[in-house]
Amino acid sequence: MITETNTCNCANETDQEKYARIEQVIEEYKDNEGSLIQILHLAQGIFGYLPLELQKFIAEKLNKPLSEVYGVVTFYSFFSVKPKSKYAIRVCMGTACYVRGGKKIVDKLQELLGIEVGETTPDGKFSLEVMRCIGACGLAPAITINDKVYKQVNPDKLKKLLKEFK
Ligand code: FES
Repeated sequence: MITETNTCNCANETDQEKYARIEQVIEEYKDNEGSLIQILHLAQGIFGYLPLELQKFIAEKLNKPLSEVYGVVTFYSFFSVKPKSKYAIRVCMGTACYVRGGKKIVDKLQELLGIEVGETTPDGKFSLEVMRCIGACGLAPAITINDKVYKQVNPDKLKKLLKEFK
């Protein structure tokens, strides 16, 4: 069972404190069946992402080869090996969105943010990704910013939209 104390996202916590909390999580979950995914999930909740150092730490504590941990981390898209941005922007490049200008949206966002797809702005504020259909095809093109969906997005209005997140 996932307990609240283990998922606390305490600001100002040092890496050392985070590792200590992750160690507690490992102790608590290591004997459960399928514990690796649970532990990785909680570790990401505590640390924010799963850098290689942290994967090594988890592998050692679980007596598992790093390759097994790394294999799981890279297999599931909800695990991230890079720090996450505050606002994750995803542009739908499914057929309907693509046909209705998805590429122009990507180009405009790249220009406005000064990053390429797959990158995060140096201040850690925005990341840019593309994704497949999210089921809003009738109101294409669509993008998401974190969990919110924006439909019928006009590339010329993106600058204004981004300002809401400044
Ligand atoms: S193709 Fe973009 S929402 Fe379906």
